[in-house]
Amino acid sequence: WAASTPIEKSFRGCMLSQPGSYSQEYYETAMLSSTSSLYSQVLDSFQQNPRWLNSTRKPLLIMTPLNESEIQAAIFCSRKLGLQIRVRSGGHDYEGLSYLCETPFIMIDLSRLNSIQINLSDETAWVQSGATLGELYYKIAKESQIHGFPAGLCPSVGLGGHISGGGFGTMVRKYGLAADQVIDAFLIDVNGRLFDREKMGEDLFWAIRGGGGGGSFGVVLAWKIRLVRVPPIVTVFNIHTTLKEGASELIHKWQYIAHKLHEDLFIRVIAQNNGGKPERVTASFNSLFLGGVDRLIPLMNESFPELGLQAKDCIELSWIQSALYFAGYQKGDPLELLLDRITTYKSSFKAKSDFVKEPIPKTALEGVWKRLVEEEALALLIMDPFGGKMDEISESEVPFPHRKGNLYNIQYMVKWDENGIGASKRHIRWIIRLYRDMASYVSSSPRAAYFNYRDLDLGTNKLNTSAWGFKYFKGNFKRLAQIKTKVDPQNFFSNEQSIPLLSSLP
Ligand code: FDA
Repeated sequence: WAASTPIEKSFRGCMLSQPGSYSQEYYETAMLSSTSSLYSQVLDSFQQNPRWLNSTRKPLLIMTPLNESEIQAAIFCSRKLGLQIRVRSGGHDYEGLSYLCETPFIMIDLSRLNSIQINLSDETAWVQSGATLGELYYKIAKESQIHGFPAGLCPSVGLGGHISGGGFGTMVRKYGLAADQVIDAFLIDVNGRLFDREKMGEDLFWAIRGGGGGGSFGVVLAWKIRLVRVPPIVTVFNIHTTLKEGASELIHKWQYIAHKLHEDLFIRVIAQNNGGKPERVTASFNSLFLGGVDRLIPLMNESFPELGLQAKDCIELSWIQSALYFAGYQKGDPLELLLDRITTYKSSFKAKSDFVKEPIPKTALEGVWKRLVEEEALALLIMDPFGGKMDEISESEVPFPHRKGNLYNIQYMVKWDENGIGASKRHIRWIIRLYRDMASYVSSSPRAAYFNYRDLDLGTNKLNTSAWGFKYFKGNFKRLAQIKTKVDPQNFFSNEQSIPLLSSLP
């Protein structure tokens, strides 16, 4: 690590003077400055959204620690020298907040802190934050055919950010959020102290499970999670329909039943434009059923006969193969694909989200399709049904409040391949228009949003607006601010949408 600027030199001096058996050589492998040949590779490879590849808001140093004392030292030295910290686990933050900052900062890349210890005797696991969902699913499946974990669909998402914002996937109706299954954690606080659940206390433990723990309260080193039971055989299907084939009617009906189906059955809808012509708009009904096809077909005939599901549309596989399937792979592909941390093909994207409490009228859905075909890049809506277990958990159990009464979550997304600010602005303008169109059909007062689909248009701390916090956390936002004020009164762990101090709330 060739320290080339005075601030880097001071940081190195400070780090080397910290307790621990660190030599300069050691730090040379764990620290990358912008002059290092590996710097860009490490910075860019885990950066999921290439929108900011040319950004100037890059880290002064990238640190890839192998143990907690390095993180403790980095917190101490950053505070001493007036630097910021950004923590990156999987790098999937929608607005790049794990690797971008307007003031000089150190990026702590947790990708090497990714060990996973499964304990089948009490059906739990300790997972370091730098592990990905794919690594966790793979490790569970290597040890048990009847256990799984209810989290997101994309294997390269990091556990650090994912659980910090809630985390839901194909088992959300049966088991709730990833954050609902956390029973202990290790966190390093602003003073460099290492806490487990008992030492951090129930308030802070509550806050980090879905309350924007990422970037607000400290560095989460590891989560202790409860594994959940899955049957040895599950069933998946994906039924594609076009507007001509009645996609609008099917989605309309889906809204009335998807949240009420048996909790073993999860059917989401993905509607997309496929190139800007009305006849190309498709809706896919994409499903995981926790059981065999012989149980699924009668359930579907009873609750959603309009979809016309037949056994030949279904694939039976193991739960881990279903994880591969939802990640876009085929039955029979090697499970090791789940271990790929780096997504080879990436497009720039912008996303927004809503929660729907009343079915959207068919005429409004038809308006959405018109909007979709105005966009020439790939534009899509992903609708994830809730109900089931989500209805049983109270709004204040963890900071994620969007429980009973929410039929489904919509994620709007636009993805493009052109570079440049002009292209970004054009596509973002389009998604803002779509989001405005939807205002009267979705939750209101506040118009709620999902923290893990981070959207800086909702407001930022810089502009001193906290409205975004009520959208993500509703009534839990104030409690989060109280806890923040107690554990980090100088607001060291901060970013554009970190939990603010209580004094800045209205
Ligand atoms: P990243 O490393 O970028 O961190 C995100 C935030 O958490 C940053 O603010 C970061 O500083 C902070 N942070 C990360 N690790 C931390 C730690 N150990 N301690 C403290 N702070 C930490 N969501 C979902 O619910 N279901 C899904 O199916 C999907 N699918 C999906 C697919 C794709 C392609 C993307 C890009 C994203 C998703 N997501 C998702 C959203 C995802 O859950 C969200 O972006 C997570 O925050 C990503 O966590 P990472 O650790 O990868 O991000």
